[in-house]
Amino acid sequence: MCIMIVATLFIINTIIGGNSLTHAHVTTWFIAVILFFVSYSMQKSGKERPAKIMKMILRLFYILILATGAHLFGVWATRLGANIITSHVLIKAIFGLWVIFAMEFVLDRLAKGKPTGIFWAQFVISLLLAMIWGWVVI
Ligand code: HEM
Repeated sequence: MCIMIVATLFIINTIIGGNSLTHAHVTTWFIAVILFFVSYSMQKSGKERPAKIMKMILRLFYILILATGAHLFGVWATRLGANIITSHVLIKAIFGLWVIFAMEFVLDRLAKGKPTGIFWAQFVISLLLAMIWGWVVI
């Protein structure tokens, strides 16, 4: 399982190219998405304690995504100046924040035994939009 994850990451990063900061950003959100699925299935099958630990690790990855995303944003802001406000980079960052928000809400609502459907839909939509804006639009 671990080898598969590392191999997939390696292939994705090799195909995407870009600088090491971009690699770090893609690696952190990719791992976070995997941790999100693992946390979800643990919680769903009633493994409370492991799910809690997994969610703590996931939150650490949120911080890494935010740090690398904010750094990339800073690089673009230096280049674009005030135009950053109306740029696709800002839209991309908002979609990225939305993904984190959706993941957190799915797990929170699952833990509380509430329906998660609306946040699953948001997760899929925001993830697709973040990837389209990150890789295609910008
Ligand atoms: C799970 C959440 C996120 C996903 C799925 C995601 C996805 C992506 C992708 C696919 C790229 C393009 C990488 C490339 O050029 O190879 C990217 C770049 C970028 N992301 Fe994120 N991101 C997320 C979170 C964030 C957050 C929270 C921020 C802001 C704080 C952010 C800001 C940026 C910026 C500024 C870029 C650079 C755009 C570029 O140079 O192409 N991202 N992200």
